[in-house]
Amino acid sequence: MRIGVLTSGGDCPGLNAVIRSVVHRAVVDHGDEVIGFHDGWKGLLECDYRKLDLEAVGGILARGGTILGSSRVQPAHLVGGVERARGHVADLGLDAIIPIGGEGTLKAANLLSEAGLPIVGVPKTIDNDIASTDVTFGFDTAVTVATEALDRLKTTAESHQRVLVVEVMGRHTGWIALHSGMAAGAHAVVVPERPFDMDELTARVGERFEAGKRFAIVVVAEGAKPREGSMEFKTAGTDIYGHERFTGIANQLSVELERRLGKEARPVILGHVQRGGTPTAYDRVLATRFGWHAVEAAHRGEFGMLTALRGTEITMVPLAQAVETLKTVPADRYAEAECVL
Ligand code: F6P
Repeated sequence: MRIGVLTSGGDCPGLNAVIRSVVHRAVVDHGDEVIGFHDGWKGLLECDYRKLDLEAVGGILARGGTILGSSRVQPAHLVGGVERARGHVADLGLDAIIPIGGEGTLKAANLLSEAGLPIVGVPKTIDNDIASTDVTFGFDTAVTVATEALDRLKTTAESHQRVLVVEVMGRHTGWIALHSGMAAGAHAVVVPERPFDMDELTARVGERFEAGKRFAIVVVAEGAKPREGSMEFKTAGTDIYGHERFTGIANQLSVELERRLGKEARPVILGHVQRGGTPTAYDRVLATRFGWHAVEAAHRGEFGMLTALRGTEITMVPLAQAVETLKTVPADRYAEAECVL
C-alpha cells in the first residue's frame, strides 16, 4: 500500500507521535510505503512531499510541532483545488491519505472523501472541541502548560495584590479554560459557551477582596464574549483566511475590572506557548494509538472515517458525522468547576 500523511491547521503537541506511529505500523508491520506532504494540504496541492521511513521518524516522539510543517491552506480555498488534489493522488499512486487536523482540516478531509479520495482522518487540536472523540491529543499538554503558568501567576498576583486576567486558547469552546482553571484553583473561569455578565464577574472578584484575599485569578478563553449590553467590547477583526482574531478579551476585561474594582488588574495572554514544546505522556500515547488505528483502517479499506477515543477504546467514526458539530462545555461541567472556584 502507498500512504500519504499530512498535518494541517494549527500545530499541536503529539503530531510527530502520530507520524511516527503511522510509519512504524505501515512500513515495518505491513511493508507499505509512506510519504509525507509538506505544510498540510498545500503539499498535496503542490505535490510537495518526501518519503518517510524509520530513519525519518527517529527521535521525533517527544518533539513538539510537526516535522512535516503545517498551514491553514485548504483545497476548497483554491479554484480547482479538489480536482488538483484528486489528480495528484492518482499520479502518486496513493491508496490512502491520512490527514491529521482539527475542525477545518477534517471538513476539507470530508469534502475530499465525498469527492472519492481514500481518506482516513486523525483528529487533533489543543482545543479538545472535536465532538466525535472524547479527547484530542494536544489538549492535555495545553492544559498542563496553562496550569503551570497559572500556578506561577498566583504568586506574583499575590505579591502585588492584583487581579490577573489570563487568556488561554479556545476560540469556540472553553475546555482549556475550564480544566486549567479547575486544576490551578482560579477564582473565575470565562468560556465562550456562556457569554459573561460584567456585573456578575465584577461582583465575584470583588467579593474575594472583601473577604480579605489579596489577589484574584480570572481565566478567560480567547473566544469568550460579554453578554449583549453588559460591557463595551471590541473585536479584533479577521486574519487573511477570514478567521476571527483573538487578541482582545483579556486586555479589555482587565481594564474594565480595574476601573470597576479600583484594584490593579493586568492581562496575561498565554498564546502559542500552549501549543509549543514536548507533548505530555498522555498525548504521546493517544497520538500513537490514533496513528496505529488509522493505518489499520486504511488496510481494511475503511475510508471516509476518523479515529476517535471513546472511553478507553479507539474506534472509527464517519468523517461526515465528526464535522457536524463541535463539542462544547456543557452546563453541568461548568457547574462542577464553578463550585470550587
Ligand atoms: O485551533 C487551535 C488554536 O490553537 C486555537 O485555540 C487558536 O484560536 C488558534 O488555533 C490560533 O491559530 P493561529 O496559530 O493560526 O493563530
